[in-house]
Formats: sequence, structure tokens, C-alpha cells
Amino acid sequence: ARKFFVGGNWKCNGTTEEVKKIVTTLNEAEVPSHDVVEVVVSPPFVFLTLVKSLLRSDFHVAAQNCWVRKGGAFTGEVSAEMLVNLGIPWVIIGHSERRALLNESNEFVGDKVAYALSQGLKVIACIGETLEQRESGSTMAVVAAQTKAIADKVTNWDNVVLAYEPVWAIGTGKVATPAQAQEVHCELREWLNQNVGADIAASVRIIYGGSVNGANCKELAGQPDVDGFLVGGASLKPEFVDIIKSAT
Ligand code: 13P
Repeated sequence: ARKFFVGGNWKCNGTTEEVKKIVTTLNEAEVPSHDVVEVVVSPPFVFLTLVKSLLRSDFHVAAQNCWVRKGGAFTGEVSAEMLVNLGIPWVIIGHSERRALLNESNEFVGDKVAYALSQGLKVIACIGETLEQRESGSTMAVVAAQTKAIADKVTNWDNVVLAYEPVWAIGTGKVATPAQAQEVHCELREWLNQNVGADIAASVRIIYGGSVNGANCKELAGQPDVDGFLVGGASLKPEFVDIIKSAT
């Protein structure tokens, strides 16, 4: 069985005071046990150690990005080795905002995923189509190409969570319907089955992201191939707790 996974991507948001407030809310929440749901929150780099030091021990932290290879003369970047050194277990890689705004290609994302894994990080690898791509009928071709670029570089998928985040659903309030999410997750699992292996297809968690909130999470969570969520806006609010609870 695939353990339900709920990630909170705080993106480029928060002050020290706001971050402390979110952590307090999470620390006081009554949620299903760690055996049932894995909870990972992803603050901006500058707040990672603060959040890690304050956060309850059954929740974990993720960075939102890391450098593609070993650190060095790369001004402004943060390396996978540094995250490991700080005891940060997870990293989000290939978020659509970075793909679109910072021109991260499929190949670059694949290299990043592989390097982060090689250093011992666990990776939330993001994929997803734009509205234009969906409307032209190329959703599956797009997410398959994004997944292939990762699969080309990765052999061990134990520490990978695949996040399907349709770009048109991110930050728009236009959540995918449960049927839309299930369809893509199911096809992605079949792609993994055909191209990577049956065991990996059965065990890799495929989580959904894009306008998930306290009201729509339950029905999405009920889909057989939806193994959790990557939550943006709602992860900054108390309703994130309701999303965690949708695991059961
Ligand atoms: P929203 O939940 O704000 O739509 O963002 C989703 C997302 O991009 C999570 O990584």
C-alpha cells in the first residue's frame, strides 16, 4: 500500500512571524498518525532551519529547489549537499513555476532529480501540462515526456514522489475534477508500468497539486491513483490540517 502523502509548498511566502504561526497551528493539530500519512512542508530556503527546529517530529521539511550538481561557484544557488548537511530530508524539483519562469527544461529537471537522490535527498518531482497543451489533446504526451526525462536518469524510485500539477490548476482556483486527476494519475502509473517496471509503478506515490483546498480534497483523495497532494495557497492556512485529515 502506498502511504498517503501531503506536501505543503509555501512558495515565496512568509515572514518569520507568519512562519512561526503556521508551524504552531500544525504542531497543535490532531491528525492521523505518521503510519497513515506523511506530511512534508516546504518553506523558502531562509526559513528551513527555523521550521525544522520548531516543527513537530512526525512532520518533515523540504527545500523548494536545489542546484543541479555539486556546489561551487554558482552564485545564488543552494546545493543538495548543503540540504543534507542541514538535515533537510526532502526537496521539490521541477515545479512548473521554475520550469516556466526560470526555463528549467525536462532534461535539467531530470539531472536535478538524479543528483539530489544521489546525495541522499528524497525528491518530490513535479510534472504537468499547460491549458493550451490540455486543450490540444497532448496532456499525456507532455507528462510522459517530463516523466521520461526523470526516468532516463533515475534507477531507484524508492525516494521519489511524483507530483502531477496541471499548470492551469495552479493558483487559479480551477481544481482538476477527481475524474481528470484520476485519469492522468492512472495513465502515468501505466506509463511507469510499461517503461520503468511493474513494482515501481505499483509503489510510487503520485500526488495531485493545483487549487487543492479543505473543501475539494476529500473527493480527490478517494480516487484510487491519487496518493496525496502538493498544496500551495491552502498550505499557508489552517485548512491545511483538513487536507492532511483527508488521508483517512
Ligand atoms: P495552489 O495550491 O496554490 O494552486 O498551488 C499548487 C502548487 O503549485 C503546489 O506546488
